[in-house]
Amino acid sequence: MNATMLLEKEKHYPVMLNQILSIISPQHGGTFIDCTFGGGGYSQEILKFPLTNVLAIDRDKITKRYASSLKKKFPERFNFYEDKFSNLNNIVEKKLKPRAIIFDLGLSSFQLSDEERGFSFESKNFLNMEMGINECSAYETVNTLDKEYLATIIKVLGDERDGKKIANKIDKYRKKKPIKSSQELSSIINSAKKNYNNYKKNPATKTFQAIRIFVNKELTELIKGLIQAAKILSDGGILIVVSFHSLEDRIVKNFFNLYSNEPKNPSRYLPTSERKNNIFKLFSKKPYMPDLNEVKQNARSRSAKLRYAIRNDNVFFSPDEFKNKFSNYLKLENNILW
Ligand SMILES: C[S@@+](CC[C@H](N)C(=O)[O-])C[C@H]1O[C@@H](n2cnc3c(N)ncnc32)[C@H](O)[C@@H]1O
Repeated sequence: MNATMLLEKEKHYPVMLNQILSIISPQHGGTFIDCTFGGGGYSQEILKFPLTNVLAIDRDKITKRYASSLKKKFPERFNFYEDKFSNLNNIVEKKLKPRAIIFDLGLSSFQLSDEERGFSFESKNFLNMEMGINECSAYETVNTLDKEYLATIIKVLGDERDGKKIANKIDKYRKKKPIKSSQELSSIINSAKKNYNNYKKNPATKTFQAIRIFVNKELTELIKGLIQAAKILSDGGILIVVSFHSLEDRIVKNFFNLYSNEPKNPSRYLPTSERKNNIFKLFSKKPYMPDLNEVKQNARSRSAKLRYAIRNDNVFFSPDEFKNKFSNYLKLENNILW
């Protein structure tokens, strides 16, 4: 099934919607930025409250189709931009003062099930894995990247200890003929894994995650997106991030810890001094998770982690400390040798 058919047919469950609505209280009105519009699950619910405005962004051109039907319904209160959220500062006017900026990371269920995108192991279509507005595809990544570089991507971005072995197998195969489909790629990866049948998940899961993250520069996008959002929000504005794997969550957690009122190494003997990087109030160090009912209804939600914090009026300062913490990811995704 292709993406257009899926948009119409698939039942869509916006992840942790109730928690998000209770955090942002749209009944009081205001402007909300939905950085990852997808099937429009959050935007649509927010717009049900008459005093709200929504500015939505998505890099995937297929989402424009759903956005235009929402635009017809709410011509004055809804705007959509086909763009990457790392570009937030160029999309949002300085005077906008949004009440909340929301990120719901990763792929939508439409993208995952769209065979033409090549995100699934069984897809016989072109090895693509692009969310939209990309510089390279998975095809170019697996067929042209230096073997050692590919091994590092698989190891670091997929947390896959067999990165080297898998990259070797890929290299051997592509010397004979190019790897054209996801199905071909997953069978090469599986041949590199020992005890293939003992795995609960498909043994290619971690490598697929790594390649997808690389192709879409997902960690760079997240790092830049968070920085842009912190600059745009003003006093009382809420930043909410829903993430789906540990690399993303580590970045979000670090960002909030670094820029919030939570001291890094709290000691009861030290006075709580004002830290220069206190620009957010964080309510919980632990992430919020979906409840059992939601997980039963929508299996994709099981790995979701929601973190949020409220901006104060302190001035945003250089994000170097945050960027430096994750410089390895930035270099790796942007093909800068380390
Ligand atoms: C999990 S889905 C969002 C689902 C949405 N909350 C809903 O309820 O329908 C993630 C969406 O974010 C988009 N996306 C991911 N990274 C992006 C980025 N860097 N810039 C813009 N959109 C992005 C994807 O194309 C996808 O449509």
